[in-house]
Amino acid sequence: MAEDLPRSALQLRSLVRRSGELELSLARIDVPAPGPGQVLVRVEAAPLNPSDIGLMFGAADMAALRASGTPESPVVTAPIPAAAMAGMAGRFDQSLAPGNEGAGTVVAADAGSAAQALLGRRVAVLGGAMYSQLRVVDAAQCLLLPPDASAAEGASCFVNPLTALGMVETMKREGHRALVHTAAASNLGQMLNRVCLQDGIGLVNIVRRPEQVALLRGQGAHHVCDASAPSFNDDLTEAITATGATLGFDATGGGRLAGQILGAMEAALVRGASSYSRYGSTTHKQVYLYGGLDTGPTEFVRNFGMSWGLGGWLVFPFLQKIGAAAAQGLKDRVAAELRTTFRSDYAREISLLQALDLREIADYGRRATGAKLLINPNA
Ligand SMILES: NC(=O)c1ccc[n+]([C@@H]2O[C@H](COP(=O)([O-])OP(=O)(O)OC[C@H]3O[C@@H](n4cnc5c(N)ncnc54)[C@H](OP(=O)(O)O)[C@@H]3O)[C@@H](O)[C@H]2O)c1
Repeated sequence: MAEDLPRSALQLRSLVRRSGELELSLARIDVPAPGPGQVLVRVEAAPLNPSDIGLMFGAADMAALRASGTPESPVVTAPIPAAAMAGMAGRFDQSLAPGNEGAGTVVAADAGSAAQALLGRRVAVLGGAMYSQLRVVDAAQCLLLPPDASAAEGASCFVNPLTALGMVETMKREGHRALVHTAAASNLGQMLNRVCLQDGIGLVNIVRRPEQVALLRGQGAHHVCDASAPSFNDDLTEAITATGATLGFDATGGGRLAGQILGAMEAALVRGASSYSRYGSTTHKQVYLYGGLDTGPTEFVRNFGMSWGLGGWLVFPFLQKIGAAAAQGLKDRVAAELRTTFRSDYAREISLLQALDLREIADYGRRATGAKLLINPNA
C-alpha cells in the first residue's frame, strides 16, 4: 500500500441490541492492504437508498431518535418496538456496515494486472459497507467509469439501474407486455419511465400526489395515475386497458395498492372477454412486492378472479437466476447509458458526521421524491 495512505478509516455502523435498542455510530477501522486481485477505493459518493436506510435504522422508532456521543464521534440511538424485535433477530448484537454501492478513486492496488489497471482511476463499486472512507474490494467488483465522470455520476450504477432493467426483463421472460409501477416518481421510477419510453414498452405509473403526476408527465410518461384522486380505480383500469399490463411492481408493499392493481387488471381483462366465467379471467396477473415503503399489513379485497400471483422480487437474486451472460448484458447497457437513461439525481451531499445528525436523518429518512442524498465519506 502507498506509504501516505491512512492506516485507519471511519465507517458508519448500525447495531441492533438484543435489549431492543438501535445504535448508529462511526467506527474507526484498520485499513488492510489490498489482497490478491483487490484494490483500495477512497469512497467519494454513496447514495442513501431506501434499502440502505432500512439497514441503518431497522425497525427502530424514528420518532424517538436520540443523539449522544461527541461532535467527533456521534452516536444515535432509538428504541425498537417490542412487536418488531422478532423481525430483527437475525442481526442481534452484530455491528453491520451499511451502504450497498458507491463510487470513488482507486488509491492502492494489488500487483496483479486487473487491479493495477484501475490504480488512480475512478470506479463504481457494488461492495457493501460503502459508507466508509476507504474500502478494499475485488477489482472484479469495480466498474471503471469514464475519465471525466464524477463520483456522484457513478455512485448509483448498480441497484436502481439493474432493478429497472430487471423489471423489464422479468416482464419479457414471464410473457407480459406492459408494466404497472408504484411510487413511480422515485429515482428508480423515473429511470424505469426512461427505459420504457426508449424501448417502446407500455408503463402505468402510480404516484400519490398531483405534483408527481406533473413531474412524470413532464418527462414524457404516457400513463400516470394518482392514488390520492377519487377517480384512481377508474383511471388505473383505463390505463391498464390501454397498455395491456398484467405485471406490476409495487414498492409500497403494505396497504391496499397491490390488491387494487390486481383488481384493475382483472377489470380491464373482463371488459374484453367474450363470455362470463365465475372464476374470472384466465389470463395470469402478477404483482411483485419489491419494496417496503409502507410498513403496514398488505390488504386485499379479492376481486380479481383466480388467475393471479403475488410474490417478492429482489434484483440480485434475479440477476443470479438469469445467469452471468444475461446479467452482464444488462450491466453493459447501464455502463453505456450511465449519464442518460440511468442517471440519478440527488438533493445534496453530506459527510459521515452529518449522516448521524438528527436533522439530516429526519430529512433523508423521509425517502421523499427528489430528496435522495449522497454520503461523501471523505468530505
Ligand atoms: N427489490 C429490489 O431489488 C429493489 C431494488 C432497488 C430499489 N428498490 C425499492 O425501490 C423503491 C424506490 O427506490 P428509490 O431509490 O428510487 O427511492 P427514492 O428515490 O428515495 O424515492 C422514494 C419514493 O417513494 C415514495 N414513497 C415513500 N413512502 C411511500 C409510501 N408509504 N407510499 C407510497 N410512496 C411512498 C416517495 O414519494 P413521496 O415524495 O410522496 O413520499 C418517493 O417518490 C424503494 O422502495 C426501494 O427499496 C427495490
